[in-house]
Amino acid sequence: MRRKIIAGNWKMNKTANEAAALAQELAVHVKMNPHPKVETLIAPPFPFLQTCVRSVSEIPGFHVAAQNCHQEKSGAFTGEVSAEMIASLGVSHVIIGHSERRTFYGETNEILKAKLNAAIEQNLIPVFCVGETLEERNNHRQVLVIEEQLQHTVCQLDYAHLRQIVIAYEPVWAIGTGLTATPELAQEMHVVIRNIISKSFGHGSAETVPILYGGSCNPKNAASLFACDDVDGALIGGASLNANDFLTIRNAMLLKMA
Ligand code: PGA
Repeated sequence: MRRKIIAGNWKMNKTANEAAALAQELAVHVKMNPHPKVETLIAPPFPFLQTCVRSVSEIPGFHVAAQNCHQEKSGAFTGEVSAEMIASLGVSHVIIGHSERRTFYGETNEILKAKLNAAIEQNLIPVFCVGETLEERNNHRQVLVIEEQLQHTVCQLDYAHLRQIVIAYEPVWAIGTGLTATPELAQEMHVVIRNIISKSFGHGSAETVPILYGGSCNPKNAASLFACDDVDGALIGGASLNANDFLTIRNAMLLKMA
């Protein structure tokens, strides 16, 4: 069975004290309620990574992700953070290709492929995001869009590195909007993604890749999304900023796995 992952993307939120308090609260709860097949992941802003790593590093199955990394190893890139720097903090994962990065910072498939390689070289686990906009969905282009996002990036990886990848399906129209994909729609798109991976790497390998759903996942809709066969967890934005909400979503996965 694929491992399940409940991931919180804090985006550009929290001060140092607030981030430390949230990580600590989550750490206490996850430590008391472990599950061998359910991983917990938090992605705080860069300045808080180290504090969060200290809070969770002793807890089995609890990991920290960066929200982005630069594709180059080092050099004159003012304001940027390399994969090596992130790994040197004890961070294990990195989100790559979030729609906000694609939209606001012009991250193309070519850049994202370079970021994937940079992360893998540092043994970071990429959480690679794909998803269509509302306009693309209205034009029935969602499958083509996802195919293109994966073909030029994840599908270009070495066979051996696929095992290291987590994919997040995040329909852009559902992110931060309160509009969630229905479980049926999420399941359908997760199968689309698995089939694309399968064409490049084979069925057996595609079956091992966790595919998370992201986009207005909350305590109310989490259980129905997790009931889908190909939904292996969630990448949670807004609801991950509140410990109770995030842990309620995590509990929905623990219940499914009980
Ligand atoms: P949301 O964000 O849960 O606030 O919709 C999800 C994401 O962007 O990862």
